[in-house]
Amino acid sequence: MTDLASVDYFSDGEIAQDPFEYFDYLRGQNPVFREPHYGVVAVTGHQEVIEGFKNTDALSAVNAIGGPFPPLPFEPEGDDITAQIEAHRHHFPIFEHIVVMDPPEHTRARSLLGRLLTPKRLQENEQYLWDLADCQLDEFIDNGDCEFLGEYAKPFATLAITDLLGVPSEDRAEFRRMLGAGKPPGNHVGALNHDPVGINPLEYLEERFSGYVTERRREPRNDILSGLASAKYPDGSTPEILEIVRPATFLFAAGQETVTKLLSSALRVLAERPELQQTLREDRSLIRPFMEESLRFDSPTKVDFRLARKSTRIGDLDIPAGTVVMLGLAAANRDPRKFDNPSEFRLDRKNSHDHIAFGRGLHTCAGAPLARVEAYVTLNRLLDRMSDITISERAHGPAGNRRYVYEPTFLLRGLMELNIEFNPIRKP
Ligand code: HEM
Repeated sequence: MTDLASVDYFSDGEIAQDPFEYFDYLRGQNPVFREPHYGVVAVTGHQEVIEGFKNTDALSAVNAIGGPFPPLPFEPEGDDITAQIEAHRHHFPIFEHIVVMDPPEHTRARSLLGRLLTPKRLQENEQYLWDLADCQLDEFIDNGDCEFLGEYAKPFATLAITDLLGVPSEDRAEFRRMLGAGKPPGNHVGALNHDPVGINPLEYLEERFSGYVTERRREPRNDILSGLASAKYPDGSTPEILEIVRPATFLFAAGQETVTKLLSSALRVLAERPELQQTLREDRSLIRPFMEESLRFDSPTKVDFRLARKSTRIGDLDIPAGTVVMLGLAAANRDPRKFDNPSEFRLDRKNSHDHIAFGRGLHTCAGAPLARVEAYVTLNRLLDRMSDITISERAHGPAGNRRYVYEPTFLLRGLMELNIEFNPIRKP
């Protein structure tokens, strides 16, 4: 048995496969607890994680993605290291992207995102998603089985964002391929016929979108990308091209993996629990509560990080400036002080929607409405087009002795593969 006190959360392969016992251990020590290996303060209580997200005065998002890696590029001095952070900001991973910005830069970038993710755009996008779900399913439905991540979830999540941003339809197959989201059947990939090995997806996207925006600024058309190209800051000033391109391209980074993880964890539960599958088939209004419980139960983003720029306090622990704080979303969503019997997946749980899988505060997930629509559309269409969805025993072993492999990372939680079997339902 693992000695939990000595676990290095950031490198332990077993804990990456099943982190929940360790999260319980941490919370049992204290919902705000300094782990011994890196001196990271791990926050695992629901109330305390929310407190951390809201304390934007003392906690900077500059290290939101990397946490203790790489180590701080300076030696923290005193009770307020704001100036040191600003002087070294460009040394932090993905420093040019919204998720690690602090106000006022964050406020400006978020205002541009607001231009992209309008209710009208989301509504039009939803229409597309219903058709997209069918197209994805058509690619493999007759086989009666599939590896769900590669054949459905990844391409679906990627193409959903290409539509949201108005990528011209003739370019979408290329995006799908270049972003590692599987190959569409047939050979309609256009000019790019090499594999995307060695290509940095964010660089690829930046180049593509800089091209679109430059072109539309020169010659506006009646399309979404032209709307993006002409977006202004609230004070009326015009953003630099890269200032527009980065929030747009970051949507792929933020929305592809996370949605894939949500869709696959929700489907795993459906395929494992025939009685629950039947209940949802008969009453589709239960799909929304089912999604919220899925987000709570297996939160795709396990942890987020903050750097204390001022000395502060979370829960009953003093946090000196310069401390790396780990906000444990997945742990908070299994906090028994908030959720009864938190390790049970319960469709009738009254407060599932109090989960914090999308974070809270300034950086709250900008794509949460899209993620929810993607899951809603997918679950509905899976139930419409497949009966008797089960887990493939060949791939995952028999019921009671399943083998599921999760991505070996400390940041996200998601299956590497999900193999299912089903009976196709013929379209009327
Ligand atoms: C189930 C799916 C998703 C989960 C669990 C998720 C989770 C999160 C979380 C926890 C944050 C907060 C990060 C922080 O505070 O440090 C976040 C931020 C963000 N998410 Fe999501 N996300 C999902 C889907 C999406 C999608 C589909 C998009 C876009 C299309 C998206 C775009 C963003 C953006 C742009 C941010 C940064 C917001 C900011 O910094 O102001 N996410 N997401």
